[in-house]
Amino acid sequence: MSEPVRILIADDQALVRGGLRMILDAQPDLEVVGEAADGREALQRARERVQQAGVEMRLVRGDVTDLRAAGIGSGFRLVLDTGTFHDLNDTHRAAMGREVGAITVSDATVLLLVWPKRRRPLIRGVDRSEVEAAFPGWKVTDVTPSHFRLPKIVDLLLRPDEHWYRLRRE
Ligand SMILES: C[S@@+](CC[C@H](N)C(=O)[O-])C[C@H]1O[C@@H](n2cnc3c(N)ncnc32)[C@H](O)[C@@H]1O
Repeated sequence: MSEPVRILIADDQALVRGGLRMILDAQPDLEVVGEAADGREALQRARERVQQAGVEMRLVRGDVTDLRAAGIGSGFRLVLDTGTFHDLNDTHRAAMGREVGAITVSDATVLLLVWPKRRRPLIRGVDRSEVEAAFPGWKVTDVTPSHFRLPKIVDLLLRPDEHWYRLRRE
């Protein structure tokens, strides 16, 4: 069997963390390796893991609609969004597109993990035209299913059907 996916649970409620830990630890391919009570602690723990693994990666914290104000610098080659863009309103999506454009190099890649646009109570979702509208000057080069599976019962309820959108500048 391949190595389990290692997970750090970040939530401000100890009860929620405990519940998630029970569900996740019951899955043979997942392993909970720690918990954090807020974003700062989660980032600190993640930085330790990145360093231990010898991976060269900068972990930063900021509002995606105002990245320059967060003082994270520029020159990024890859922007990976695992589920923020698709739940923003149109104004915030446009702001995210503009800010990502401002902090990336000209041949950067943007990867967005998005749920499709459907009438779901939890997440707004996006379609291709909305991605393109928020990232003028960028071209969608690939749209591929993520094959991500939630625990079975949640998967049946939400049927996420999420996709990776890859964008490069035109
Ligand atoms: C669906 S969750 C994805 C969580 C995480 N990326 C993951 O893969 O498990 C969306 C996250 O986006 C964060 N978020 C929402 N608006 C944001 C913004 N303007 N800037 C930065 N993060 C934001 C939320 O707090 C939430 O943690």
